[in-house]
Amino acid sequence: GFNARDPASNVLLEYSSKHQDNNESITTNGGVPVGRKEAMLTVGYSGPTLLQDVVLIDELSHFSRERIPERVVHAKGAAAFGTFQVTHDITAYSAACVFKNIGDETPIIVRFSQVAGERGYPDTYRDLRGFAIKFYTDDGIWDLVGNNSPIFFVNDAINFPMFMHALKRNPVTNIRPDYDAFWDFVSLRPESTHQTLQLFTDRGIPASHRTMHGYGANTYSLINSEGEFFYCKFHFKSDQGISNLWQSEADRLAGLDPDYYSRDLYNAIHNKNYPSWSFYIQVMTPEQAVKNPYDPFDNSKVWLHADYPLIPVGRIVLNKNPTNYFAEVEQLAFDVSHIIPGINFSPDRMLQGRIFNYGDTHRYRLGINNTQLPVNSPFKLHNYNRDGRSTILSQGGGPNYFPNSFNGPRNDKRARALAPRIPLNGVADRTDNGLVDNYSQARLLWTRVINDDERERTIENMLIWLRQTNCVIAERAIDNFAKVDEDLGKRLRAGIRNTSGCPPHVTL
Ligand code: HEM
Repeated sequence: GFNARDPASNVLLEYSSKHQDNNESITTNGGVPVGRKEAMLTVGYSGPTLLQDVVLIDELSHFSRERIPERVVHAKGAAAFGTFQVTHDITAYSAACVFKNIGDETPIIVRFSQVAGERGYPDTYRDLRGFAIKFYTDDGIWDLVGNNSPIFFVNDAINFPMFMHALKRNPVTNIRPDYDAFWDFVSLRPESTHQTLQLFTDRGIPASHRTMHGYGANTYSLINSEGEFFYCKFHFKSDQGISNLWQSEADRLAGLDPDYYSRDLYNAIHNKNYPSWSFYIQVMTPEQAVKNPYDPFDNSKVWLHADYPLIPVGRIVLNKNPTNYFAEVEQLAFDVSHIIPGINFSPDRMLQGRIFNYGDTHRYRLGINNTQLPVNSPFKLHNYNRDGRSTILSQGGGPNYFPNSFNGPRNDKRARALAPRIPLNGVADRTDNGLVDNYSQARLLWTRVINDDERERTIENMLIWLRQTNCVIAERAIDNFAKVDEDLGKRLRAGIRNTSGCPPHVTL
């Protein structure tokens, strides 16, 4: 609890008790011992400071550089280290080293996040949540950058920045959310109906990072050792079970303990109450993909479990808290382009955009050598790239060009064998991905997945946001929900009509 001296409140006490006999000296960043830390070097008691006060300059110049750009999205979050263990054999689908033998373990770090808020944003604000896993495998880094939802608002990468603009701060007032912008965008892009509806169900505010599922959401592919190719989705089901907060409790916590989820995760792991998730895949053959009634590469839709059942793979467990947030979490960089042999991409348009975007944002946020930072580093990295800001590796003095005659690193036969060879042809064009059936899966969510009580709460939750926008936009948004379910539309309309009418000058 927040008022108790929980483990997260005791990190300083803990350090202190473990360092009773500490006799380390303070040093400058150059490692030179400092004689007096708490006074500047001045000429006389009341005189000016000297430029040769290198201790002061060392300190102030470091201080003014303590921040790097925060993540442009998913800035607020918490992470923990752990392991992935294989419990079931899926080598029929994938030759990836991480799935090789039942019992094999791979070290991981998982970062949970909020999508839209900044680094200090209250954890319990209604939002999707990020669920990103870095696997430190024998074949290098595999980053699976998912959310706590199997779907997303938009399904073409070119619409992602626009959706984020609509969800984040208004550029004039710096206030968020701008409810006009949010409802305007989602009402104009009906493929967002499914995810928007889900956002206002109970799952829109998890009770903790531990009590939500994770989903790769985008469609990936797998290749087995025979070269056979399958499309797949990744799922992580919380072994703690799903638990959510009601709006009123979330509102209270947002003020009282804005870091509520970070505290919960830290305390659980500190108390050895290690959270875990069961790892599953869904698999679709290329033949099934052609015949599937909905686009299997459209991430505004799920793959129905009745047609593509969950196949168990393993379990992830988180058992170690980071020891420095900045080094291990702020500098943690997940990159959708980091896949390993045996796992590959798909034509999913969001995924295609993401393959570019993460590396690009890390080069801006952390620099070109971000994969050499300890928390991002693969166990082995051998290539012909050299230099650049913050180079850490020496690459063992090998040649810096290829091909070469000096036994530098070579092409990898297995990686080549596991690269999918996909025949492609088509007309280059910009085809709008949002004009297909956007309502039937949302209808399943509304009518089958949630019960009457949750339907009631979902409507109340939605009305909190809908009542903040003008009624022209609200009506347009409700038109989409009425296409999901007539009764849902009626109840939302009744809900906004109970409040103020539309200002007469609003014609959009
Ligand atoms: C973070 C872009 C869609 C999950 C980010 C970041 C960018 C980005 C620039 C910040 C990364 C950083 O600074 O470290 C995009 C683009 C998308 C997209 C362009 C669509 C084209 C998605 C989807 C999901 C997702 C569909 C989930 C399935 C995440 C997560 C993070 C993240 C979990 C936080 C990673 C961390 O914990 O560091 N995204 N994103 N994103 N994104 Fe996306």
